[in-house]
Amino acid sequence: MATTGTAATAGTVTTGHAWERTDTGYTGVVADAEWAREIRRLADERDAVLLAHNYQLPEIQDVADHTGDSLALSRIAAASTASTIVFCGVHFMAETAKILGPGKTVLIPDERAGCSLADSITAEQLREWKAGFDDPVVVSYVNTTAEVKAETDICCTSSNAVDVVRSVPADRDVLFCPDQFLGAHVQRETGRENLHVWAGECHVHAGINGPELAERAAANPDADLFIHPECGCATSALYLAGEGTVPEDRVKILSTGQMLDAARETGASSVLVATEVGMLHQLRTAAPEIDFRAVNDRASCRYMKMITPAALLRCLSEGADEVHVPLDVAERAKASVERMIAIGTSGGGE
Ligand code: 13P
Ligand code: SF4
Repeated sequence: MATTGTAATAGTVTTGHAWERTDTGYTGVVADAEWAREIRRLADERDAVLLAHNYQLPEIQDVADHTGDSLALSRIAAASTASTIVFCGVHFMAETAKILGPGKTVLIPDERAGCSLADSITAEQLREWKAGFDDPVVVSYVNTTAEVKAETDICCTSSNAVDVVRSVPADRDVLFCPDQFLGAHVQRETGRENLHVWAGECHVHAGINGPELAERAAANPDADLFIHPECGCATSALYLAGEGTVPEDRVKILSTGQMLDAARETGASSVLVATEVGMLHQLRTAAPEIDFRAVNDRASCRYMKMITPAALLRCLSEGADEVHVPLDVAERAKASVERMIAIGTSGGGE
């Protein structure tokens, strides 16, 4: 194993696969059949369960034990008896698994895999926001840091955000953070006037915009529209339905897991998909007869794509990167995450 200084910047494993660390990720490994066998062998050796989010590269999704949405993966992590969880996703997802299982070893193949949405609110900003209200209930999207979760009453994912907000007594102010588009969706669904929404966003989903969606829908008049509620175009989709450009029953606002259930149930022969492009792999596998097309095929999350075949191989051979959450933070965050996994249903994966 070649190393420089204290952190390994390159290495080889027994199969001869050689990985290299670069500023944008780990490279140098082709995801061939031998790679997949070695990943499975190393996972068994470590008593590790491999979890992959729906936005991961196809080869990572295919080699994982479970692929699913944020809610499904959190539940699987909480229920797993494996001593090690390898989270092929972004950092807040691995942190959530650690909060739910502090005694487990949680690894992420590249700890640099962050999230622009999680970065859009800090614990300090949340404390200041709370101070302006009289005993509010804080509902935070799971796409937040452990410190923000520690300041939160109930976490949610896109699968159960509406159910979580409905679980809060009607007379209590709800502070919803950090995603403004998911917040707007929850506000529409619940009709709640005392729901206050933080103005954060995910740069990938916000970039899937209304004009682009309208153009694609006009060119594909028979297609269903599957829209993730984090998208900038979610409101436009409902507007298109409202004005009759697209029949109302063809517009579906769904979490990534719920998209899979909808794909199995729809009678449509084509579907326009507004979310990160990694989702197309699961959709095409679940319903190969349907023509799935991205509303914006540039909507790729560079953080999700940092979990490369090289990164996963290096993770399993080196036992790195390990995710730690300070115990006091984890203890304060745990109740909000446990409330999240007790409410609502995810789609697929579980
Ligand atoms: P879900 O899998 O919960 O729909 O989350 C989408 C997402 O943006 C995760 O980063
Ligand atoms: Fe975060 Fe957006 Fe990437 Fe999801 S797609 S991990 S919300 S930056």
